[in-house]
Amino acid sequence: MEKLTEKDKELIRGSWESLGKNKVPHGVVMFSRLFELEPALLNLFHYNTNCSPTQDCLSSPEFLDHVTKVMLVIDAAVSHLDDLHTLEDFLLNLGKKHQAVGVNTQSFTVVGESLLYMLQCSLGHGYTGPLRQAWLNMYTIVVAAMSRGWAKNGEHKTD
Ligand code: HEM
Repeated sequence: MEKLTEKDKELIRGSWESLGKNKVPHGVVMFSRLFELEPALLNLFHYNTNCSPTQDCLSSPEFLDHVTKVMLVIDAAVSHLDDLHTLEDFLLNLGKKHQAVGVNTQSFTVVGESLLYMLQCSLGHGYTGPLRQAWLNMYTIVVAAMSRGWAKNGEHKTD
């Protein structure tokens, strides 16, 4: 697993301090962006209500539940910047689950772009080049572990 620099950690912790207090609204901005970039992903959620247009899906309990889960994973990563490897098994398993529900690893990259978009919207002038890179470095580590789990599950299925 790659390591983050002390500067990366400082930038991530500093910016998450305020964002982390309001996880769901920030997660909604992030996932609204994701579905703009890749609308087909909306179909992977099983809505109890027949929601359409997209805006209705974005306020449905199923969707908000997932947004909360994603933000809690990010929160866990930020809390474990010094020992991200302790999340490895959890992230492998999470990758496997996403393979099983039909999410592609390429879509994880689009989530990364959406995360950066949300940071830019929320932080304004605080969204600097080094801050962007620090978050990208952390997200890359998280997604690399998820993708390893995804690939393991994929192999298992085609055996
Ligand atoms: C690429 C876009 C993604 C899509 C379309 C997607 C979709 C899903 C779906 C359909 C489920 C199962 C239903 C549910 O629990 O809500 C799920 C579960 C979950 N997702 Fe995602 N997901 C995506 C990305 C992510 C990312 C990037 C993270 C975290 C960094 C994440 C975290 C979770 C968690 C924690 C669960 C619950 C797993 C469990 O039941 O143990 N998802 N996701």
